[in-house]
This record gives sequence, C-alpha cells and structure tokens, in this order.
Amino acid sequence: MTDRLIIRRPDDWHLHFRDGDVMRGVVPYTSRQFARAIVMPNLTPPVTTAALAADYRDRILAAVPDGIDFSPLMTCYLTDTTDADDLARGAAEGVFTAAKLYPANATTNSAHGVSDVEKIYPVLARMEAEGIVLCVHGEVTDGDIDVFDREAEFIERHMRAIVSNFPKLKVVFEHITTADAAEFVAECGEAVAATITPQHLHINRNAMLVGGIQPHNYCLPVAKRETHRLALRKAATSGSSKFFLGTDSAPHLRSAKETSCGCAGIFNAPFALESYLTVFDEEDALDRFEAFASLNGPAFYGLPVNEEMITLERVEVAVPATLPLAGEEIVPWHGGQKLGWRIAD
Ligand code: DOR
Ligand code: ZN
Repeated sequence: MTDRLIIRRPDDWHLHFRDGDVMRGVVPYTSRQFARAIVMPNLTPPVTTAALAADYRDRILAAVPDGIDFSPLMTCYLTDTTDADDLARGAAEGVFTAAKLYPANATTNSAHGVSDVEKIYPVLARMEAEGIVLCVHGEVTDGDIDVFDREAEFIERHMRAIVSNFPKLKVVFEHITTADAAEFVAECGEAVAATITPQHLHINRNAMLVGGIQPHNYCLPVAKRETHRLALRKAATSGSSKFFLGTDSAPHLRSAKETSCGCAGIFNAPFALESYLTVFDEEDALDRFEAFASLNGPAFYGLPVNEEMITLERVEVAVPATLPLAGEEIVPWHGGQKLGWRIAD
C-alpha cells in the first residue's frame, strides 16, 4: 500500500477568493496547498479590465502569509461589451492568464455576464489569435431547462459551436458535473480541457436533498446523478491530460448558506488536496494524482510546472465542523468528517 506520495507542488486551476476580509481569511488556506491559482473574477463589481485585475492581484498578494510562495493568476470577466484590446494588452502584460465566460445569471455574481454567446464571438476570435485561454461556466440559463440538464444543454447549444468556430481557441470547460461533459471533452481536440472539483467526485445529488436540505452540499453546477459522479471519477483518474484540478472553492459565510435562500458554493480550500487524494486512493489511482494536480494544468496553460515538491502521507486528519472567517463562521467541505490523507510539514 502506498503511504507516502511525493509530487510537484500542485496548482488550483479554478477558485474564488472574493475580496476584503473574506479574501484575507481564505488566501492562506489556498496558498498553503497550491503554488498558483486561477482566480475567478465574479466580484461586485466584476473584474472586467486589466486595471481592476492588477489591483485585485495586489490585494491578494498582500494577503499571502510571509514566507509562502504563491502566484494568483488573474481572469477577465467577459461581458457583452468587453474591450478586446484591453484584454489582449492585459494578457500581453501578464496581468490576465485567461478570460471567463459566465452566461448572464447562471450563478453567483453573474448578472453582468454574457447575454448571448454569439455577441462575444469577435472577442473569442481575438483570444484565439492571441492564445488567451477561455474558461467557461457551461450552463444554459433558460427557465424552461431543468437545472439538472443545464450543462448537457450548454454543450449542444454553445460548446460545439464555440469549438468548431474557433478550433485553435484554448477552452477549459470548468467544474464539469456530467458524463456528457466528460465525454465531450475527451472527444475534442487538444485545445479543449476540463477542471473537476473535489465535491463532484465525492457526492451525487442525494447528498444535497436526502435527509433534509443540505445547503453545504449545494454549488453550481449542482451535483448530478450517481452515474455522472462515476463518469467524473473515471475521467479524473484516467490519466488523460485533458482533466485537471480546479477546486471551485467558493466561500460563503455560514449565515449566507443556512438561510431560506442559500448561496451556491462549497468552501473546500482548507482540505482540498486531502479531499481529492481520498478519491484517487479509493480509485486505486494514486500514481495518477501528480498528473491531475500538478502537470496537466500547466501543460494546458503553457506554463512551467512548479519546481518545489510536496509530501502527502496517509495519516488521518479531522476536518473542523466550522472555521472562523471575517468575524463570522464558515463551514468547510467535509466539515466534521475525517479524511485519510494529509500534507506532511
Ligand atoms: O457554486 C458556485 N459558486 N458556482 C459558481 O459558479 C460560482 C460560485 C460562487 O462564486 O459562489
Ligand atoms: Zn467557480
């Protein structure tokens, strides 16, 4: 039995830091685990320009604990009126690593998102030409489409068109939740990849809805049926370079989750690696963990892998039921449970 894994330091290719006190409280969790992270731009107001992204990056860097090496990789929130010149300049200057497509009103703080994907085709053409990665929240938002079908429908209505109209555009299908998305990504060419969260590898929709409503298992896209969870575990542990780690850690204070209209988002940053490792262990795929966590992401983004190595060991770790954050409490993913792996000091 493998009890120790020594791998290159991993990166998180999708997460939310927020801003202000919450950001200052959560950055240390991520920077303890990861060398870099793709930072989502869905602040209020959203990060739509290179100037806003550069300021936000400075605020994040100021929150990184002394002695820790961590680089936030910034993204541009695409809107119907995105300035392609500003995006291209921001990417050339190293401020932007990617741009994020939120269909308008698909999720938290997406009201300023894109109202019709075709409206941003000129921006996508420019991104393709400049080699800027497109990160996609792949869900349609039409009220007549069942929430459990929104990702699969997005593939048919938009993903196939994006990929065929812009064959060289690098596209990350973010936080995939369905067998349909895993299959779509696997069948596309090398320009298309996907991130997978720990929660979508651990839970199906029962975890959200059985035994009373479970707000801490609610995120978007929502967890689907068991068949989809199994397909995601297969994709993540397959060894394919198209799938990589993206936690989608999305902090919402306990008071905003445990309420009559609870926010979508799971705060998994404190024990993200331990959570993923549990899955790779259960799937007998520990030998594939380094590729998923530390190699496939940089290869896709065209960035160097991290030089530093970390050690992971099979030692039980207890996840606190709650953690203090911004003068309140937050419930971490796996709160109150035990996990079988930890990061060695
Ligand atoms: O559950 C989610 N929370 N999904 C998203 O797409 C956004 C995120 C957030 O910002 O809270
Ligand atoms: Zn997200």
